[in-house]
Amino acid sequence: MTDTNDSIAYLNGEFLPLSQARISPMDRGFLFGDGIYEVIPSYHGKLVGFRPHIQRMQNGLSAIEIELPISEQEWRAICERLTQENGNANLGIYLQVSRGADNKRNHAYPIGITPTVFGFTFDIPAEPEANIETARTLKVVSGEDKRWQRCNIKSVALLGNVMHYQQGNASGKDEVLLYNSAGEVTEGAACNVYIVKNGTVFTPSLDYQKLPGITRYMLLDILGKYGDIPVEERIVTLEEAKIADEIWFSSSTKEVIPVVELDGVTVGDGRPGPVWLQAQTLFSQHKYDY
Ligand code: PDD
Repeated sequence: MTDTNDSIAYLNGEFLPLSQARISPMDRGFLFGDGIYEVIPSYHGKLVGFRPHIQRMQNGLSAIEIELPISEQEWRAICERLTQENGNANLGIYLQVSRGADNKRNHAYPIGITPTVFGFTFDIPAEPEANIETARTLKVVSGEDKRWQRCNIKSVALLGNVMHYQQGNASGKDEVLLYNSAGEVTEGAACNVYIVKNGTVFTPSLDYQKLPGITRYMLLDILGKYGDIPVEERIVTLEEAKIADEIWFSSSTKEVIPVVELDGVTVGDGRPGPVWLQAQTLFSQHKYDY
């Protein structure tokens, strides 16, 4: 386990100890949360979902009109060097691009400033195993989604998510299952959501209320190509979640993780379910194809 502060980071073209990395307090990432980030998992030097992660970051940068002349190959070189420098174990690679530092604080996008590009790695748990006995699980509470209407952009302005996550944490739970004012499930504070009922997997359709998760994208693609489990993207209500046979969350650092308790009530029999086992088995087999 490395102390993140002793690790090697990337900042604006240079690799250096994280403890020596410096940015200006006038950086708009700091002042406004004006930037885009990614988290890419890597196990023993092998990246999971590198291309779709970089594609999503480029989409986010276009959405907020940050022009950045870094190609996919250059990003790959940065990520590979970061994992090598930091011991190639089980790492999350954090990448962040902010609009850059200006000499004044003005809401409008300034012209002619250079984006700040930052990357570092942090330890993540070993690759999840498709095993009912050893799987990590989550206990969650539900909460009304109070975030903004552009949750499809992976913005560094995460205060809404942080406050929701803290709500779960303060109740002694691991995550929060968010629902909108119509009682429809959106996502978790840092995960996408799925429910299973009578053998079918249901996951909320993508729109401005959810991040298009890369784990979600890969999982649905893998289940479609290799699985025989029916999957439907549609509205999922909180009421349906409450009577689901299984609930799963997904994210880059957790893969597909079973939820065993919602609002103090046991989900299914309180253990990872059989459909989860099939899904995580297929995900483990095919996740390096992306
Ligand atoms: N979180 N929804 C939200 C709000 C998220 O923050 C995340 C990921 C996801 C899952 O996306 P993906 O499968 O691409 O990781 C969904 C990351 C890991 C984080 O902020 O640390």
